Amino acid sequence: MPTNPPRDAEETRALARTFDPQRLTADFYESPYATYASLRTWDPVHRCADGSYFLTRYADLDHVYRDRARFSSDKRTVFGPVFGVTSPLYAHHTTSLVFNDAPYHTRVRRPIVDVLSPSAVRGLEVSVTSLIDTLLERLRDLQKFDIEDFAAHIPVDVIGNLLGVPRVDRGPLRGWSLAILGALEATTTAAQLQQGNEAVSEFTRYLRELISERRRHPGPDTDLLTGLLREKELSEDELLQNCIFLLNAGHETTTNIIGNGLHLLLRTPAAAQRLVEDHTLMGSAIEECLRLESPNQLGNRLVSERVTIGGVALEAGTYLTLCIGAANRDPEEFAQPDLFDITRKPNRHLAFAAGAHACVGMGVARLEAKVAVLRVLQQLPGLRLRGEGQRGARARFRGFVSLPAEIG
Ligand code: HEM
Repeated sequence: MPTNPPRDAEETRALARTFDPQRLTADFYESPYATYASLRTWDPVHRCADGSYFLTRYADLDHVYRDRARFSSDKRTVFGPVFGVTSPLYAHHTTSLVFNDAPYHTRVRRPIVDVLSPSAVRGLEVSVTSLIDTLLERLRDLQKFDIEDFAAHIPVDVIGNLLGVPRVDRGPLRGWSLAILGALEATTTAAQLQQGNEAVSEFTRYLRELISERRRHPGPDTDLLTGLLREKELSEDELLQNCIFLLNAGHETTTNIIGNGLHLLLRTPAAAQRLVEDHTLMGSAIEECLRLESPNQLGNRLVSERVTIGGVALEAGTYLTLCIGAANRDPEEFAQPDLFDITRKPNRHLAFAAGAHACVGMGVARLEAKVAVLRVLQQLPGLRLRGEGQRGARARFRGFVSLPAEIG
């Protein structure tokens, strides 16, 4: 586990002053928290080399997320030059609800909230538990445990079930999703953009067929796609692009919370033991994993009208990066913020953001994480980490690409 050794004031001030999200180091990807602490302390509204601003304080993020009048999610002006306005990636991202403002955002969000209601999520518990138990049984037989074998499987299958994607068709879903999200990193290669564009095109072709099939043969009430098809408010293209977004939104983030949660707990056996003995702590334990190692570390907004944040005047059109990973360790909001405390209350973290765009799938994500982590602790009591694991070199999404463990 990387440590964040105490630094003197001059050193941390320099770390904040020179921070450039376009030039991140391997050490940063391993653990960004020392850098985030320096930024929060010395330069919480940090001007980056490209003129955008990087925000790290909890109160500032909470305010920006909740003020949709002054901070916009509409990224057309940003994505145009990056993706090209005729590209599949541009069409996809600018039609996804997350990168839009009202009234379009409200029109798309409403039916998704309806089909992912708390009672619909409760109805998933049996199938999620059975999926996880089947995976664990296979891993016990194989005597093998890593992210690819376990955490990466769960979200694709859960959303595949929600959308009614036949099992035999699920093979490419994970690759498509990773390629589309990979194209959103701050720095991307031409190859990454091409993979992202191809993934949107192939995914769209696939979903078009699935939708026409579902129109002919509607699924049960629990089928999310059938539910969305009933909503006359969405055009075919809006439906397609937002189904792709649903899979992407719930995929890497949920894989990461399961991996990050297991990593935290396997390194803190006393906490793991406490959870096995008292399942009622599972809820607060998962919230603490979401806070301490937030799967989605960075969000973005555009300033719609001139505002001042932390004494810094920001003009309309300014691009803001909202650092959830830093806000969730802000000592102004959380006592002993670097401490892993599975009983922490209150825990008003921003891992799912806040306000009008707060994560619609948080109930599904919490369910998957709770069941996955508890079943592993119960069913594989001898599980031990083999080494430190390997984190993905990504700033936006924090998780492990590999976290091998001995089943014991
Ligand atoms: C631990 C797992 C997850 C995390 C950390 C997470 C995080 C987030 C965050 C931070 C946002 C706000 C984005 C913004 O406004 O800038 C968001 C939005 C969203 N998430 Fe999640 N998410 C997770 C799982 C899921 C799942 C499982 C689904 C679907 C089943 C989902 C569906 C969505 C949707 C549809 C939005 C857009 C909401 C809107 O714009 O109104 N998420 N998520």
